[in-house]
This record gives sequence, structure tokens and C-alpha cells, in this order.
Amino acid sequence: MKITEQIKQPIAYEMELFEKKFRLAMSSKVALLNRITHYIVNRKGKQMRPMFVFLVAKMVNNGELNERAYRGASVIELIHTATLVHDDVVDDSNMRRGFFSINALWKNKIAVLIGDFLLSKGLLLSIDNNDFDLLKIISVAVREMSEGELLQIEKARKLDITEDVYYEIIRQKTATLIAACCSLGAASVKPDEPKQIEAMRKFGELIGMAFQIKDDLFDYGTQSIGKPTGIDIKEQKMTLPLIYVLNNASKKDKKWLINSIKNHNKDRNRVNQVIAFVKDNGGLDYAVTKMKTFQKEALELLSFYPESKYKVSLELMVNYVIERKK
Ligand code: IPE
Ligand code: IPE
Ligand code: MG
Ligand code: MG
Repeated sequence: MKITEQIKQPIAYEMELFEKKFRLAMSSKVALLNRITHYIVNRKGKQMRPMFVFLVAKMVNNGELNERAYRGASVIELIHTATLVHDDVVDDSNMRRGFFSINALWKNKIAVLIGDFLLSKGLLLSIDNNDFDLLKIISVAVREMSEGELLQIEKARKLDITEDVYYEIIRQKTATLIAACCSLGAASVKPDEPKQIEAMRKFGELIGMAFQIKDDLFDYGTQSIGKPTGIDIKEQKMTLPLIYVLNNASKKDKKWLINSIKNHNKDRNRVNQVIAFVKDNGGLDYAVTKMKTFQKEALELLSFYPESKYKVSLELMVNYVIERKK
């Protein structure tokens, strides 16, 4: 059995129901909007975020969950989808999930509005059902994601990113939403257990950090992952492998690296040289080591929970995050 199937086994029923609810949550009366949201739901991603919500909810509540968990999962996936649609505008990327991105097909204007529509649909789903505790968790994540994206742009302009700032960026832009999945999963079924909710938030944050480091490693690869690779340097986006080699390079190499990223980032040949330099100087190995440290810390937090098939799936999920092929 494929690892993803194994992970989903104890939440197969929930995932099936979720898909129906998610489709419904996206619908609109405007024809153009419906055409585009159809395009989006027919090209679904890995759906890791709803999986986190359901697995955590069931793990902390003896295998039982409720409508709040379903709504929470839909809200998070709506927000995730909105941020991807916006992210492809920001990154000027024309491919997502193996197909053309929304901005590639309908242009930036429409992509921005679609992202806003999905975001508002998500927030309203919580409000209309009085899930205010869940809405709070989600809203913090939305704010942090925007802050993270902006911090990333600021650093790409100045090229003065340190390893700590990199962690802050990925915590905000990616880990915070996965943290929200896990805390929301716990809060949906155990609203009066703040310690439990916080423990799960931390678990999600740690695994979210590993998740984004993995995503940044993909950019250095040549595998096809359904979205462009080798574009981070072009966008002057400095990620962990590059930050590490910059910090450890000679003065001369450092000057060459910075000059390449600043002034030759659209020159494919030069970018390939930078990528080769990063690989030859241990940048990828370093990032893998750091990724595994986050993974280990996440697994440690899980160890406090009694054995269950949900816990086993979450452990598999933690491993899948760093071993996945897309
Ligand atoms: C992509 O997330 C955006 C990042 C935070 C790196 P996923 O890799 O979970 O995207 P889909 O939903 O599976 O396409
Ligand atoms: C992560 O940004 C996605 C968001 C937080 C919206 P990236 O730009 O690194 O993600 P991909 O590689 O395009 O999915
Ligand atoms: Mg981006
Ligand atoms: Mg992107």
C-alpha cells in the first residue's frame, strides 16, 4: 500500500465527506467564479491540511469527531487554496499541481480576486456557524502568512537574510497554517483544553518547518513536482541551502554568489552555476539535517499520546512530509 493510503486509512470516511463539503463551500452564484473554482477543485493537491485536522481531532478524542472539525478542515483548505492562487501571482509562476496556474489562464487581476473570494468564503464558514474559537486560530494564521510573505519580499530585495530570519519566514508563511490545522483539530473536539490545543499547535509548527524546508529543497532538484523548480534564485529568494553556503563561503565566493543573485538572476547559465555551487558546498546536506531535526522534535511531541491508529498515521505523516516526491 502507498504511504498516503496508509495514512488516510483511519480517516477515509472523513476525507470522502470532506471533499463533498469542500466543493460546496467553494460554490458561488457568479458564473465566471464557478468556472474557476471548478477548475481548482478538479485539480486537488495532497490535502495534507484536512488530513492533519481529522487525524489530530480523532487522536485526542478517542476516534470521535464533529461538524466543527469538518468546517475547520474546509476553512483551512479554502485559505490554503487562496494563498496558493495569490502566491502564484506574487511569484509570477505559471504552473500549479501539474496544470496552468490561475494567473496563467485568467491573468493576475482575476487571480487576486479569486484568492480574496476563497479567503472570505473560508472566514464566513466559521462566522456563520459561530465557530469563533476556531476563527481566532485561523485569523492569526492568515495574518502571519501575509507577514511572512512580505518579510520574504523585503529580504529578497536587500539580500541580507540570516538563518534565523529564514526560519521566521517559513514559520510565518507555511508552518503557521499547519500549526493552525493541528490546534484547530484539537480545539474542534476539546475546546476547553488549552494545554492540549497548544501542544498540537507546536507539533504542527515543527512539522510545518520541516515541510517548507523540503519544499525549498525541491527547488534545487530536477524532479517534476507539478510546479516550476529552479525559480527561487531567479526571484532572489534565498533559502536554507543557499544561506548556509553563503555563511560558509570565502570572501571571494561570497561576492560572486551575491553578485550572481543580484545582477545575473535571470541568466539561466549563471543560476545553474550557483545551484551547482550550493550542491558542491554542502548546502543541501545541511538543509536536510535541519529538516530532520524539526521532524524529530515533532515526533517527540507525539510520543506523549497513547498508542492509536490515528497516532500511527500522524507519525507516518511526519515521515511523509520529508520523504514525499511532490
Ligand atoms: C504548497 O503546499 C505551498 C507550501 C506551503 C509550500 P502543498 O504542497 O501542501 O500544496 P498542495 O495543496 O499539495 O498542492
Ligand atoms: C509557500 O510559498 C506558499 C505559501 C505560503 C502561500 P512558496 O512560493 O515557497 O511555495 P510554492 O513552492 O510556490 O508552492
Ligand atoms: Mg512564494
Ligand atoms: Mg511560489
